[in-house]
Amino acid sequence: MQTNNQNNDVNKSTNTITTSKVNNNKEAKAVVLKGVGYPFNFALMDGSNIEISDKVLFEQYARDQWIGMDVSEGTYLFDQKIIPDFAFKVITVFPNNSVIGENTSIVIVEEEKVKPTLKSIKTNFSISDVVGQESAKKKAKVIMKYLHEPEKFGEWAPRNILFYGLPGTGKTMLAKALSNEIKVPLYLIKATSLIGDHVGDGAYKIHELFTLAQKTSPSIIFIDEIDAVALHRSYQSLRGDVSEIVNALLTEMDGINPNKGVITIGATNNIETLDYAIRSRFEQEIEFAMPTEQERKQIIENNLKTFPLKMEVPTEKLVQISKGMSGRDIKEKLLKTGLHNAISNDKKTVTKQDIKYAIDMKKQKQNEVKNMFV
Ligand SMILES: Nc1ncnc2c1ncn2[C@@H]1O[C@H](COP(=O)(O)OP(=O)(O)OP(=O)(O)O)[C@@H](O)[C@H]1O
Ligand SMILES: [Mg+2]
Repeated sequence: MQTNNQNNDVNKSTNTITTSKVNNNKEAKAVVLKGVGYPFNFALMDGSNIEISDKVLFEQYARDQWIGMDVSEGTYLFDQKIIPDFAFKVITVFPNNSVIGENTSIVIVEEEKVKPTLKSIKTNFSISDVVGQESAKKKAKVIMKYLHEPEKFGEWAPRNILFYGLPGTGKTMLAKALSNEIKVPLYLIKATSLIGDHVGDGAYKIHELFTLAQKTSPSIIFIDEIDAVALHRSYQSLRGDVSEIVNALLTEMDGINPNKGVITIGATNNIETLDYAIRSRFEQEIEFAMPTEQERKQIIENNLKTFPLKMEVPTEKLVQISKGMSGRDIKEKLLKTGLHNAISNDKKTVTKQDIKYAIDMKKQKQNEVKNMFV
């Protein structure tokens, strides 16, 4: 008899089982489940390994029995039909805390190999919060129109877009803002997490990811640090063989039906090191530039709107000081470090000394990094 420690998981969480009849009218767009087994062990019953032979059939079967149920992430659904009381853990629901309805896609993953992050209303950025990056925002507008009405575009649909540029310039922020504005699932995945322990792991994960995105379309796949797997061949000796992953990506990127409403955005800081076959799949390469003086001013002003203490240093001065900084550096290294210094000194306002402290800290860190290579 195979024991299954996942069962403990189920037992502990019985109080979170989703059978409540909270009045919630939002219909789930997608529910991702994983079979975890029974609430207890007994003879004749084996662990959590069930094999779904036909995913479409399973979806119908699942929808029929769970229609009307409230679901949220981390809770469990119990089979009531063929294998009564077999538990399925709810890995993801979009939107979270919604009800299974006739149009809900129900997807089962065999193992938690793919951990998609379905970002929905969790981020509250909008596209206008991204300062500058005008060509990226233009493209975002086209993507929004497309995801709204995919059928209209036919073979002219936007599909694969590459965002490149220095760290902290707004690539991830824009993808989040896009999914937030049009309320479509965003699958954020770091390319490094695709490299598995066994041959085939990466290809499997990519396949699952694209399948899920198509099932829950319209949707956006965001592959961050794509250079980590899609390295140009001349660099591949640095990282070992990732050609399996490159090939899987190529197959999936080519295979998506343009009418399905799935957009793939790749992001990288090192566009020159990208594998050419992958690079050529992106219809457009969009550069994210460092902010100009005017844009730094805007970023500073936007951030100061939610600042908990009064900033005594004039904005113009902050604009000068932040020359050469990215949006992220302005927020994290300059404003946040300055703020925290003021708070740690029990001050009621952020002064010149706090900003000076932040600048010194940043320089110190940069020197540490430089010295690592001498
Ligand atoms: N153009 C911008 N406008 C406003 N804020 C920005 C901008 N760029 C960066 N920021 C701020 O910096 C944070 C980090 O930016 P983001 O994560 O989008 O950078 P990135 O380009 O994805 O960086 P990386 O290449 O390191 O992944 C944002 O959440 C935001 O606060
Ligand atoms: Mg990023």
